[in-house]
Amino acid sequence: MDLGHIGKAVVVLGVGLADRLSPEAVIPEMGSWLAVLSVEVAHLGALHGVDNFIWTKDHDRRLPGLLKPGQSFRPLFEDLTGAKRAEGTIHDTRFEDFIWTGPRIDLLIIDSPICAGRAGRGQERA
Ligand SMILES: C[S@@+](CC[C@H](N)C(=O)[O-])C[C@H]1O[C@@H](n2cnc3c(N)ncnc32)[C@H](O)[C@@H]1O
Repeated sequence: MDLGHIGKAVVVLGVGLADRLSPEAVIPEMGSWLAVLSVEVAHLGALHGVDNFIWTKDHDRRLPGLLKPGQSFRPLFEDLTGAKRAEGTIHDTRFEDFIWTGPRIDLLIIDSPICAGRAGRGQERA
């Protein structure tokens, strides 16, 4: 599957940082999509995937026909992380509604819309 969504540099940077963490490190990932980065860092700490898991028209453009816009891609995310034994805690929510109540964060991965004004538009475009 050609995900073509994040650069190798992002993965290298994330893993490079995570490598310095303790095995108990708390690692929320804002924007998990199809787990490209998730599977790289999940085994380095406690991963928390935060995403609304809504397949959008933009996702459909990137990976045509995989799912229908508006459908949840959470089952697919769970399959992908499960296959790599990279399961973490899933927070199936809009970023706008998400409140972190967990322990101290060691590494926060933000791989989501670049400017706040775009937050939530993914759902509208579904
Ligand atoms: C750039 S992709 C994440 C890529 C992923 N980290 C990877 O390694 O492939 C952005 C993700 O943010 C999610 N997202 C966008 N806007 C959101 C919102 N307002 N609330 C929750 N999730 C959102 C999308 O569903 C998508 O999975």
